[in-house]
Amino acid sequence: MMNGNFGNRLKEAMDRRQMKQVDILRAADQAGIKLGKSHISQYVNGKTMPREQILKFLAEVLDADEEWLKGEAEAPREAEEGGKDSMEQRDEGGRTMRKFGKSTKLDHVLYDVRGPVVDEAARMEQAGTQVLKLNIGNPAPFGFRTPDEVIYDMQSQLTECEGYSYAKGLFSARKAIMQYAQNKNIPNVTIEDIYTGNGVSELINISMSALLNNDDEVLVPSPDYPLWTACVTLSGGKAVHYICDEQAEWYPDAADIRKKISSRTKAIVIINPNNPTGALYPREVLQEIVDIAREHQLIIFSDEIYDRLVMDGGEHISIASLAPDLFCVTFSGLSKSHMIAGYRIGWMVLSGNKEMAEDYIEGLNMLSNMRLCSNVPAQSIVQTALGGYQSVKNYVVPGGRIYEQREYIYKALNDIPGISAVKPKAAFYIFPKIDVKKFRIKDDEKFALDLLKDKKILIVHGKGFNWKEPDHFRVVYLPRLEVLADAAEKLADFLSYYRQ
Ligand SMILES: Cc1ncc(COP(=O)(O)O)c(C=O)c1O
Repeated sequence: MMNGNFGNRLKEAMDRRQMKQVDILRAADQAGIKLGKSHISQYVNGKTMPREQILKFLAEVLDADEEWLKGEAEAPREAEEGGKDSMEQRDEGGRTMRKFGKSTKLDHVLYDVRGPVVDEAARMEQAGTQVLKLNIGNPAPFGFRTPDEVIYDMQSQLTECEGYSYAKGLFSARKAIMQYAQNKNIPNVTIEDIYTGNGVSELINISMSALLNNDDEVLVPSPDYPLWTACVTLSGGKAVHYICDEQAEWYPDAADIRKKISSRTKAIVIINPNNPTGALYPREVLQEIVDIAREHQLIIFSDEIYDRLVMDGGEHISIASLAPDLFCVTFSGLSKSHMIAGYRIGWMVLSGNKEMAEDYIEGLNMLSNMRLCSNVPAQSIVQTALGGYQSVKNYVVPGGRIYEQREYIYKALNDIPGISAVKPKAAFYIFPKIDVKKFRIKDDEKFALDLLKDKKILIVHGKGFNWKEPDHFRVVYLPRLEVLADAAEKLADFLSYYRQ
């Protein structure tokens, strides 16, 4: 049956929502609805009408009225004027007011580390309730102070940091980062391969935006630091999650990675040391990932922001050092090791086979130039921070705060019936497992919310890290021992009665 009216309206609704045919196919895939390329193109061309169920789905995903979409009703409904925007709504005085909705590009973006549970905590705090925050890896509020020398050096250079710097960053900062990369045996790095950013966060965003076309796939760990999945999605790509295996010290599962590679896979992300699990990957595990990346010609993105926070005499190995023939991008910064998360300074280092990525590098340069430069005062202390004595080392050895807090929380959590946790080897996170049968937990966000309401403790539920099952949560063990002891006691009490 020909239905030009339907085709035109479908096109119109897709334009309004800025969705292409591939976006619809992706949404269908995500919703578990069978929809082929040829079907959607026939609908758009008005050659066939979809079945009732598909029509319903299209109306929903395009935020369109079903009858209007069919070509039957006259006018599009209000909300269709621009995605979730509506042009005219009457306020109390009878005046018209335009309403703005968020971009549909954010529809599948998740960042629960600062999500609804955190909003509830903020409401509680505003009402005067003290909340114990074990939810965010921000060292300063827990008494981890920036080394004095870093502050002095920033102060004394402040007047020289008034202007923009070169887009990639100050020479002195990049030279220090280059030497740092050399010490980690990262091959083929020149000063031009180093980009400073307003934290690693900005560079994750830039690196994904410059690479991905709609529907390109990137392998991202599960659990992950959720900014990676969010930036892949925001860039139009698809984050395909590979499992990190709790039974194997939370190492990436090579067999699962292999299973998830398709012709669209462009890159693999690793987070080492890992947030949220605290895992540190040994050479054999990294080598396996390099072998897979080599076989499938993937770019390796390695987030190594915790590389100086390693315990138990472990060695951090940069995966790029094992892959001179591949193109690698290694991320690190000073937020965690130098306790200056608020100054916003991170970097990325391109290495290995840059010929593979000439055009991509052009894209990275464009985006780096477009944001002009990263925070210059923070760049000015990179050389100081990376050179000389590293005070962070005192924190991660026996007697040091991070080490002792890790020892404490690991034992305290494992002592709670129904909770088990793998011992973290690095960073300052632990990702315990909850016995979901015992506590009848079906919804981990509700678990986090109930714990917050009952015990005033804020943690992040596992789904916030793109972990599929409702059986994990993350604890940040930055607070001092006595605070952790109080938190562990309250959690144990909560779990003595909590059932969902
Ligand atoms: C794995 C990981 N990467 C990147 C970041 C962001 O770091 P930055 O402060 O440099 O933006 C974090 C922050 O928690 C993180 O855990």
